[in-house]
Amino acid sequence: MKGIVLAGGLGTRLRPITHTGPKQLVPVANKPVIQYAIEDLRDAGITDIGVILGNLGRDDIQSFLGDGSEFGVEITYIVQGNPLGLAHTVGCAEEFVEEDDFVVYLGDNIHNNGVTDLVESFKTGDYVAGIALQEVENPGQFGIAETDGSDNVTRLVEKPDNPASDHALVGIYVLSPAVFDAIETIEPSWRGELEITDAMQELLDKGLAVDSHVIEGWWKDTGKPEDILKANRLVLDGRPGSLNGTVDENADVRGHVDLHETATIEGRAVVRGPVSIAADTVVEAGTYVGPYTSVGPETRLSSVQLENSVIVGESEISSDGKIVDSLVGRAATVTSASGLLPEGRRLVIGEQSNLKL
Ligand code: DAU
Repeated sequence: MKGIVLAGGLGTRLRPITHTGPKQLVPVANKPVIQYAIEDLRDAGITDIGVILGNLGRDDIQSFLGDGSEFGVEITYIVQGNPLGLAHTVGCAEEFVEEDDFVVYLGDNIHNNGVTDLVESFKTGDYVAGIALQEVENPGQFGIAETDGSDNVTRLVEKPDNPASDHALVGIYVLSPAVFDAIETIEPSWRGELEITDAMQELLDKGLAVDSHVIEGWWKDTGKPEDILKANRLVLDGRPGSLNGTVDENADVRGHVDLHETATIEGRAVVRGPVSIAADTVVEAGTYVGPYTSVGPETRLSSVQLENSVIVGESEISSDGKIVDSLVGRAATVTSASGLLPEGRRLVIGEQSNLKL
């Protein structure tokens, strides 16, 4: 079995972070989102992986993943270009897939239970496809599946106005090469995209069997800033923490804290896990880092109070206020304006930034 990881798309809902890089490289608990997908496939024994690239951040994704050997897999890059839909993406992988069955993993999704159960479920019958489902509160925002009560899918609809089921497709699929003919026959949806949901409905219309598997545990699509923060909380919650860096004896560190071996927590700093602190980052005296915060590499935190936030890295944060529920992009600086006249907030803000003052 092969794997396909989708790393195209425009990432519009994550701007300005995605003005300078693809959403699949935004870190969650200090690990780029796409790495979770690659590791889940590897852990299911799938090491021959095609990564589909769009126009945005192609080089960044290739330089991060390389040939895959660092992650124990072999990566082939496939260029999609413009995001014409998930079915178009899968169609681009036809030459790579050849006659194999394959798992498609949306590169901006994180699943805490991986893909092994989905693959095993698919293998139990004579299926042309298998989908992973979970009950959601807002089914109209997803692809939705109806089943016959014993895991056989009877109908699939992409983002219906009146969902007949609250079971959403959660962004991992097992497909067989039969899907390529189905992709040839479908038309773009109301949102102008070739939908993989429609291609699989086409398989059902031909009388072919599609398996469904309801996943356990959590799953998160990281398309928006609040999703990144939520995914960060979910991942940090499951971490035991390991204090590998330097912790001053006068620092107050409690809870699960992942501290990189080259990171430092200075005296009179307070850290309350779960927290992740990456390489070469310094938490200075007088700083508070509260639960559900991930601080990326080469960052300096001075006299700031930080909570439930993701700092991508290479930043300097020395505001004297409290920063909560925030996503701070690479190499951003947040400093204090206190003592300067006239009093007031001083801002240099890029296009499509989002501040709550
Ligand atoms: O998250 C689960 C949902 O994912 C499913 O319930 C839906 O059935 C499915 O259509 C999909 O919906 P989204 O609207 O959330 O998909 P999105 O456009 O965000 O694309 C998902 C990933 O695929 C994202 O990493 C970008 C990548 N992509 C997307 C398109 C449209 C590509 O690589 N190429 C594309 O053409």
